[in-house]
Amino acid sequence: MAEAIEAPFEVYRHDPQKDRTPRYERHVLTLAPHTPVLTALLAIRAERDPSLALRYSCRSAICGSCAMLINSKSRLACQTPIGPEIERHGKIVVDPMRNQPVLRDLVTEMAPFWSNYRRIEPHLIPDPAKPMPDGKPTSMTPEEVARFQETPRCIACAACYSACPAVEADPLFPGPMALAKLYRFVVDPRDGATEERLAKIQPNGLWLCLRCHLCTEACPKGVRPSERIMDLKELALAAQGGTEAGSRHALGFKENIRERGILNEMRLVRQTSGIPGTLAQLGQGVRLVRKKPEIRKTPKPIDGLAEVEKLYEVLDPKEEG
Ligand code: FES
Repeated sequence: MAEAIEAPFEVYRHDPQKDRTPRYERHVLTLAPHTPVLTALLAIRAERDPSLALRYSCRSAICGSCAMLINSKSRLACQTPIGPEIERHGKIVVDPMRNQPVLRDLVTEMAPFWSNYRRIEPHLIPDPAKPMPDGKPTSMTPEEVARFQETPRCIACAACYSACPAVEADPLFPGPMALAKLYRFVVDPRDGATEERLAKIQPNGLWLCLRCHLCTEACPKGVRPSERIMDLKELALAAQGGTEAGSRHALGFKENIRERGILNEMRLVRQTSGIPGTLAQLGQGVRLVRKKPEIRKTPKPIDGLAEVEKLYEVLDPKEEG
């Protein structure tokens, strides 16, 4: 059995009803390295401070209740052993999840997370052209089920939502979990609302994703939401083309690089925003040109453009011929 180690904890404490500012409470415990952070927090609550508020239920990485920040990363406390954290950081700092208001200590208000999830209509909308016999869903082939990728593994812990900078920038961004679940219904052959779903999600939706992959890093179940968001972008482009600023930006970016191997920033603004949108940004544009006059010139194609073209041929073979 591994020898017990000394584990210094700094635990976020804040009751917004009573305290003006949050504080960290320090506790040093002696525990085996494999002890989950949740077990340690429950020991603190049982033996030192019964007022510590936290959520948990299954203690087996199933219910998704115990997500929190552990040394600044969104993790499940029941699935995170203390040993590697102490080895790496010398201590364990525990905070509530980001992007959700704190109710008390480590407990956050999850209503915004759930209301963003409901916006994607996370249920099957049957295709009237494919009636369901006896009101029961038609069966799917194993290949069709495989298209869902890992999305059914999601336990809705909100670790991805907490890690997402796009949620932080725009609370109307549905968040990685909602978009991964949307993908699951978009590729479901029994669903009859693919076009509508893709059209509805684009403003304040897909294109705010920065492709930072922090959601994929945070997901304790390997759902890889950022990859599903990229899949959704491709599906939206195939179904609707550049109908929204984000999709026009993506298409313009691709065209610019293919033609010259370098961005023509002035052209990309026009491609993204159109003439009225460009005029609306005129003041900002003038300031930018003053700072960086070279952006007025159309850039010359880079040396080795043929290599760029080869990349496009490999990545986008359907455009050839
Ligand atoms: S307590 Fe259920 S996932 Fe951690």
